[in-house]
Amino acid sequence: MSGAIGVFDSGVGGLSVLHHIRHTLPHERLIYIADSAHVPYGDKTPAYIEQRSHTLARFLIEQGASAIVIACNTATAAAVHSLREKYSLPIVGMEPAIKPAVAATQSGVVGVLATVGTLASARFAALLGKYAGDVKIITQGCPGLVVQVERGELHSMKTRRMIERYTAPLLAQGADTLILGCTHYPFLAPLIRDVAGAHITLVDTGQAVARHLLRRMETELSTRVPAEASAQFFTSGDAAQASRIMSVLWGEQVIARQLPREYW
Ligand code: DGL
Repeated sequence: MSGAIGVFDSGVGGLSVLHHIRHTLPHERLIYIADSAHVPYGDKTPAYIEQRSHTLARFLIEQGASAIVIACNTATAAAVHSLREKYSLPIVGMEPAIKPAVAATQSGVVGVLATVGTLASARFAALLGKYAGDVKIITQGCPGLVVQVERGELHSMKTRRMIERYTAPLLAQGADTLILGCTHYPFLAPLIRDVAGAHITLVDTGQAVARHLLRRMETELSTRVPAEASAQFFTSGDAAQASRIMSVLWGEQVIARQLPREYW
């Protein structure tokens, strides 16, 4: 059996996870979808995001994916459960890194930057119940930040002002560790570090997700013959625009293809 690794996100944020996947599994065929026509997911209903996630997963499987990574915290919260019920292939999701942040904090205060959708989810509440312990966890929804990354505004004054506004209450309450609970935010890490200070620890889950994927593939897909290493990119939005921003974030030229119309 051979097959690809299918990865999707609301937009270009999941490329922060794809970097780790390529590093950890360098010989794989990767297929990435940016659901750019529907970004941001953070302000959509769980039912809407779940429906989009099923549509994208179907496309990835039709393209030959034998494992799927939901490179989006918001979509994981809304859809990982029903996707796993429907499909038997490995489906790896992601969630804000509460456990490592709780282990890392010295001040006993952790801030979580994430989408409003992730923070409102039952999955996130369960995560806090399981791992927060005595640590004070302060959450901060960040409307607008995903769109800044989609526009490629990784260093603009507008993005900086947003980050100042979103991190100020967390820092004022003594947070020394900030969780980047959305896959778009690692692309803003230099700016967040600049605003919050070099002494603040930033935690994200991209690398842990790639390692987890590797383990799942080794155990569940051990008879698989790896395909030739490659990466293909799709978008439900404007292909030229997606190609431009993805090339910047991926670090090499990306020619994004338009997702067929029935998957829009
Ligand atoms: N990258 C998605 C996440 O990890 C962003 C969601 C959005 O589009 O708002 O949550």
